[in-house]
Amino acid sequence: MTDNVQQIKERLNITDVISGYIRLQKAGVNHRALCPFHNEKTPSFMVSPSRQSWHCFGCGEGGDIFTFVEKIENIEFKDALKILAEKAGIVLQRDDPKLRSEKDHLYEICEKAAQFFTQQLNNPIINYLHNRGLNDETIDEWRLGYAPDSWDLLLLFLKRNGYKENEMERAGLILKGEKYHDRFRNRLIFPIFDANGRAVAFSGRIMNDVVLSKTEYADSGKYINSPETILYSKSRMLYGLDKAKIEIKKKDKAILVEGQMDALLPWQDGVKNIIATSGTALTEDQLIILKRLTNNLILAFDMDEAGFRATKRGVDLAQNSGFNISVLGLAEGKDPADFVKEQPKEFEKIIQSAEPIMAYYFNQILKKFDSKALEGKKFIAITLLSEIKRLPSAMERSHWIRELSLKLGVSENDLEEEMEQIELESFNSAKSIEAPIKQTDVKTRKEILSERLLALLLKTPELINQAAKTISILPPKYFELLSSFSSNQGNFSNVRMALPPHLRPYLDFLFLMADYELEKSGPDFNIGEEVESLMKEIEKEHYKELKQKISQEIKKQENAILISSSGEGFEENEKLTSLSKELQNISEKLNILSKN
Ligand code: UTP
Ligand code: MN
Repeated sequence: MTDNVQQIKERLNITDVISGYIRLQKAGVNHRALCPFHNEKTPSFMVSPSRQSWHCFGCGEGGDIFTFVEKIENIEFKDALKILAEKAGIVLQRDDPKLRSEKDHLYEICEKAAQFFTQQLNNPIINYLHNRGLNDETIDEWRLGYAPDSWDLLLLFLKRNGYKENEMERAGLILKGEKYHDRFRNRLIFPIFDANGRAVAFSGRIMNDVVLSKTEYADSGKYINSPETILYSKSRMLYGLDKAKIEIKKKDKAILVEGQMDALLPWQDGVKNIIATSGTALTEDQLIILKRLTNNLILAFDMDEAGFRATKRGVDLAQNSGFNISVLGLAEGKDPADFVKEQPKEFEKIIQSAEPIMAYYFNQILKKFDSKALEGKKFIAITLLSEIKRLPSAMERSHWIRELSLKLGVSENDLEEEMEQIELESFNSAKSIEAPIKQTDVKTRKEILSERLLALLLKTPELINQAAKTISILPPKYFELLSSFSSNQGNFSNVRMALPPHLRPYLDFLFLMADYELEKSGPDFNIGEEVESLMKEIEKEHYKELKQKISQEIKKQENAILISSSGEGFEENEKLTSLSKELQNISEKLNILSKN
C-alpha cells in the first residue's frame, strides 16, 4: 500500500490533479485558488508544487493529493487511491471481494439497476420521449429507462444477479411493506449520476397516462426519487454535473434548471453547461460544489410568484457566497424544455441576454407597483434597498442606488439613509458570507505568532541569528524545527530529512504559509521589520503568560495560608514575597516592551 502511494505521488503532479477539479491561478512558485471546501471571496487556498502539498489558510484544511481527492470527492482513502492510481497508470492489486467497501457494493447494485431499467424501455415510453423532443442519442447518453408496471421485477432481477434484499433496500431500490417490493413502478426512469458519472440514485416520472397501469398505486406523485443513501444526498446532488462540469469550467458559467427534462432538452440542443436541482432550493452544499467550477450562475427557474419565493433563499445564499447571478427571461409558465422544443437553437441566444438578478428585481417590482404614488414608492424602495444592501461590492451598491434614485425621483442620500435602517435576515450576516473558520486545534496567541515568525524565518535564514533571543522562548515544536533549520544552513531538503517524520508535513505547511503571507502582503512588505515586531509580540506574550502563571501561584499560596490559618500574615511568607517580587519584575519588563 505505501509503495503504491509513493509511486503515485512520484508520477502525478499535484497541480495537475487539483486543477482537474478547480481553477488554479499561478502565484509565484505556488498556485492559488478559491477554496473548494468553504465559501470565500478571496483565495486563501494554496498549492505548492515543489512540496506537493496544499493548504487553505481560510478554513485550515490541508494535505497531499490523496487527502484532496478524498475530501473533494467525499470518498474514503481506498477510493481516492483507486482514482489516483488510474490517473497515474498504476495497476493496484485486485481487492479481495469480501473486503470491498460497502459503497462499492451499492455502486454495483445501482449500476445493475440502471442497466435493468434501460432494457425495459418499450415503444410507448420511447414514443413519449420522442414526443417530448428527445432523440435516441440523448436517451442513450443519459441512460433513460423504464420501471415496469410490476411490484417485483427489479427485485427478482437483482436477486438473480446475486444481490440481497437488504442491500437493494440500502441502495434505495426496494421498500419493505408487507414484504419487499420495487420502489419505482410504471415510471420513466432518470438515473442520477454522481460527479464521476456513476449511477447513485433514480428519479421516476409517472407514466400512468402513457402506459395504462394494471394496478392502482397509492403513490401517484408526479416524480418519486430515491431516498437518501450512503451514495446519494439530495442536498448535494446536481443532476447532470458529471456531463456538464468541464463545460461549466470552460464557459465559466453554469445554467441551472429545475428538473431533469429541463436539463435534457437544452443539453441536446447544444447547451452543455447545464445542471438541474431536483425542484428544490439551492443549498449551501450545492453552492460549494459549483464554486469550484465557476462564479457565474444563470437561473432558468420558474419565476412565477410561488416559484420565486421557493428559490429566493437559495439565490440569497448564492449572492452571499459571491456568485454573479442572472435570470433567464422565459415567458411566464414556460419551462426550458417547452422553450427548446418549440424554438430549437434559440436557447443559447436567450442565455446571452440573461438579465443580472438586480435588473430582474428592478423590472419585476417596477412593473407591479406605481413608482409615482407615495405608497408605491415606499414599497419599491424598501424591497429593492434590501436587495441592494445585500450586495457585497460597494461599487455595485452605489450603482443600484443611483438607478433607484432615478427611477423614484428620490435623492441618493435619502435612499442610503433608508437602507441603513433595513435589517437583513440573519442568514445574510457575514457568517454565511465567509464560512466559519475551522480551527482543527486551537492555538494560543503565542503559538500563532511563533508560527508566523517561523514561517518568515524559514524564508530568510539570514535573520535566524538575530532572532536567537526569541527562539529560546518558542514552544518546543517550533524550537526543534528552527534549530534543525539553522544547523542545516537552511537547505530545505536536508532540513526535511533531518526532522522526525511527524514534523515534516508541518514544515511543508510553514513554507506554504510563508509564501501565502509574503504574496498577500505585496511588494512593500519588509520581512526584517515584521520579524522584529513578531519577536517583540512573542516576548510580550511570553511575559503575559508568565505573569498569569505567577498570579495564579500567588492566589494558591494565599488560599493555603488562609486555610491553614496559622496566624502568619501574608507579608511574612517567604514564598509569597519572592513570587510578588517576580511578578513586579515581569510587570516592569512588560511595561518597557509596550513602551518602545
Ligand atoms: P416539474 O413538476 O417542473 O417537472 O418538477 P418537469 O421537470 O417540468 O417534468 P415534466 O416536464 O412535466 O415532465 C421539476 C423537478 O422537480 C422534481 C423533479 O426532479 C422534477 O424534474 N420533482 C417534481 C420531484 O422530485 N417530485 C415531484 O413530485 C415533482
Ligand atoms: Mn416540464
